[in-house]
Amino acid sequence: MQTIKLNNGVEIPQLGFGVYQIPLDETAKAVYQAIKAGYRLIDTASIYGNEKETGAGIKRAIVEGLVTREELFVTSKLFILQTPESKATETIEHSLDTMGLDYLDLYLIHQPYGDVYGAWRAMVAAQKAGKLRAIGISNFKSAKMIEFVGLNEVKPQINQIEVNPWNQRIEDQKWHEKYDVQVEAWAPFAEGRHDLFTNPVLAEIGEQYGKTVGQVVLRWLMQRGIVALAKSVRPERMAENIDIFDFELSKEDIEKIAALDMKESVFFDHDAPQQVEWFMNRMLDTEK
Ligand SMILES: NC(=O)c1ccc[n+]([C@@H]2O[C@H](COP(=O)([O-])OP(=O)(O)OC[C@H]3O[C@@H](n4cnc5c(N)ncnc54)[C@H](OP(=O)(O)O)[C@@H]3O)[C@@H](O)[C@H]2O)c1
Repeated sequence: MQTIKLNNGVEIPQLGFGVYQIPLDETAKAVYQAIKAGYRLIDTASIYGNEKETGAGIKRAIVEGLVTREELFVTSKLFILQTPESKATETIEHSLDTMGLDYLDLYLIHQPYGDVYGAWRAMVAAQKAGKLRAIGISNFKSAKMIEFVGLNEVKPQINQIEVNPWNQRIEDQKWHEKYDVQVEAWAPFAEGRHDLFTNPVLAEIGEQYGKTVGQVVLRWLMQRGIVALAKSVRPERMAENIDIFDFELSKEDIEKIAALDMKESVFFDHDAPQQVEWFMNRMLDTEK
């Protein structure tokens, strides 16, 4: 698996496996199968409610000798009500205990709301204590990322944001490159929205190389230097999605993909009042 060096020297596998929306009783098995298929980066979050099951899948893979802990790159995230400094410190410990791990490779502030500066102080302290190898943010727009870098001594290693063919984030990537904050893509397939998997432009590009739409999308992210998280509960798709390192998209292919950019989220805008209201009303309830 090819890796990217983060701004603190830690190396992250460029392709990873995400466990969002995997049913609880399937998560441990899916994580184990993903590791068996060759994934080394596993992405979960406190709010997904499956840190325990994710940890169980990792443990099984290690016990069975498929990998060592050092070969894996495990990520989790804290949510909105977990941002105050003391709460963040507790949440980091809780993630470690729940997953059965001594350290995490990456920990993120999941949403750009709440006491993100307090959370950051807790995360920096945990990083210094060797509990978190890399730390970062998620869903921060470029302007907020720049403010966050400017007002903290330790800059984030990663910003995990939505990136897919409908929302390509070309300008955002340039801003992140300027500040040396690595972009990590969530929902690289836009969860299949706008019929992504049958899109004729992407399908035709793939046909030239005997590759599927999913493979074209992930390859495009690899060539852009973005870390991508793909999710599938099906072993055949896990294998398909990782089989992207034996072909290269041409300049013409990339231009065709560029023309698909709608330049807005397929899911939500983190600054939209309705969206913030939704988080406050609904997501906070689930945290209480
Ligand atoms: N930071 C954040 O706020 C945030 C938000 C969302 C996601 N994430 C992270 O990013 C990861 C990926 O995002 P996501 O899960 O939302 O969406 P995604 O990876 O864009 O799409 C997943 C969907 O695509 C299907 N799929 C996967 N591979 C396929 C293939 N080769 N052919 C056809 N269908 C395929 C999956 O179905 P099957 O499972 O049935 O195969 C699933 O329905 C998450 O798991 C999570 O770790 C983070």
